[in-house]
Amino acid sequence: MLVQLWPQKAQNLSKLRGAFDRGLASTTQRYVCATENGEIVGFASFSMKSSLWQEALLASLDELVVDEASRGQGIGGALLDYVVEIARKTGCGRIELDSAFHRTEAHEFYERRGFEKRAFLFTMAL
Ligand SMILES: CC(C)(COP(=O)(O)OP(=O)(O)OC[C@H]1O[C@@H](n2cnc3c(N)ncnc32)[C@H](O)[C@@H]1OP(=O)(O)O)[C@@H](O)C(=O)NCCC(=O)NCCS
Repeated sequence: MLVQLWPQKAQNLSKLRGAFDRGLASTTQRYVCATENGEIVGFASFSMKSSLWQEALLASLDELVVDEASRGQGIGGALLDYVVEIARKTGCGRIELDSAFHRTEAHEFYERRGFEKRAFLFTMAL
């Protein structure tokens, strides 16, 4: 599913596994799956950190993807609702995400669910 999320990216499965395991071991990162007949059809990863700006915890939706064959059936919306619910219950005052310019359908998906654009994201490879 992550290959579907980043089709242009050369995957390094061993590094990806390492990052996945660090997330699993972390107390601030959560993974959520949607399943259908025992198969994983959707995946979300999110994290929560203390924010001085929010004077509270701030949730960040790091990845959200639904299997191509299962899109448009409400699975992405249900995953997002679930992430929001957990974040709220954990004490987060806000949830944010960044999304690449080309993901125009995803932008509409988020805006229809109450998200608004509020900043530019600046990034630099290290
Ligand atoms: C964005 C994404 C997670 C949404 O998941 P989803 O299961 O399709 O979401 P839903 O079915 O709850 O809602 C999709 C919306 O698009 C519409 N839609 C219809 N057919 C669709 C299709 N084949 N694919 C996607 N969306 C479709 C739905 O009607 C719905 O409209 P709404 O916003 O008015 O409710 C999914 O499209 C995806 O994985 N995209 C590729 C990865 C991506 O861009 N992730 C976001 C990174 S920031």
